[in-house]
Amino acid sequence: MNLELTEEQQMVRNSIREFAQNEIAPLAREYDEEEKFPRKQLDGLAELGLLGMIIPEEYGGAGFDSVSYALALEEIAKADASVAVIISVTNSVCCYPILSWGTEEQKQKYLVPLAEGEMLGAFCLSEPQAGSDASNIKTHAVENGDFYILNGTKSWVTNGGEAGVYLVMAATGENNGRKEISAFLIEGETEGLTVSSVEHKMGQRASKTTEMSLTDVKVPKENLLGGIGNGLKVAFSSLDNGRIGVASLSVGIAQAALEESVNYAKDRNAFGHPIAEFQAIQFKLADMTTNTEAARLLTLRAAAMKDANHKQTGIYASMAKLFASENANKVCADAIQIHGGNGYSRHYNVEKFYRDARITTIYEGTSEIQRIVISRGILKA
Ligand code: CAA
Repeated sequence: MNLELTEEQQMVRNSIREFAQNEIAPLAREYDEEEKFPRKQLDGLAELGLLGMIIPEEYGGAGFDSVSYALALEEIAKADASVAVIISVTNSVCCYPILSWGTEEQKQKYLVPLAEGEMLGAFCLSEPQAGSDASNIKTHAVENGDFYILNGTKSWVTNGGEAGVYLVMAATGENNGRKEISAFLIEGETEGLTVSSVEHKMGQRASKTTEMSLTDVKVPKENLLGGIGNGLKVAFSSLDNGRIGVASLSVGIAQAALEESVNYAKDRNAFGHPIAEFQAIQFKLADMTTNTEAARLLTLRAAAMKDANHKQTGIYASMAKLFASENANKVCADAIQIHGGNGYSRHYNVEKFYRDARITTIYEGTSEIQRIVISRGILKA
């Protein structure tokens, strides 16, 4: 077993770390305060090929392996989790399903411009009444000549109103008493696809999250992704991949909070000493470091399994997402404790990290859903 990164993986990590610290981190606070979409930062990342990281070069991507992808997302999240979630969603749950399930025509039409950074992608599964219970969606598609006509409402759409292509799950009928669900690729400019509201969130505020309305949206039949009735397979296999992205993002937030805490503990004096000399602080830092390293290893393990096409990748992706997201919340809470009252102030970065971390145990499947996926996997084995 070799736990060392390859030279190429180290190069990816180092170059993205430099870009993220110089071009993304200094803008993070302002963009968060103003809920400003980070177009400029994304343009820079697109130039580096990071909007199609796991996409082969023949389709305009950077051709990274999943381990490099995880390392890159960690570095971006360390600088700004809002930018990281935008990148993670377009890569993991839009580009990747088109690569895995798309026809050659769909790849040329949608994957190439996505991977080349000409547009962003979005993923539309959740609805107001269907979050964890994803198969309970009401959005439906009715066949009409060479088209499907879609109606419904989608919630929590990252990149809503900004994306050039939306991967939308909709019911196309019933099969053996169960809803038959199919996946569609819908262009952002399509008539009837509109932003019905923009969420004003606790954290990751520079990433745009919307509710989308679909009113008589006409989609050509050739835009069905993965064939009729395979929508949940498309969605859940995309989420297996997306959860590696959210785990990486969570490691990045935790690492950032940890580093701020180490610096603060060395600078801040109490009772005539830097607080780093007190064991109460030292033990907190030790636990934060140990658990963040464990989260990183579990995440890279899931990514390496994906690269090896291992059949248990989904279970490992869920373990990584569960552990890394819970850890990010714990580390950020401890980082605030170390900062004392200052940690509660917007003058200090840990306040933002704490807010940014909160959603990681919820989106792309709550911690409770990850436990369902993991336990089903164990019990089936
Ligand atoms: N890969 C491929 N196919 C899969 C799969 C996987 N990992 N998991 C399940 N499937 C298939 C099953 O084989 C099944 O197909 P068949 O009917 O042909 O057998 C179908 O999908 C349905 O599977 P289940 O019967 O297991 O489905 P379920 O209703 O019991 O649900 C669940 C299982 C694990 C609870 C699932 O609903 C789930 O993961 N829920 C959470 C959804 C989620 O993560 N939502 C986040 C949305 S994205 C987001 O957060 C917004 C954003 O932009 C960031």
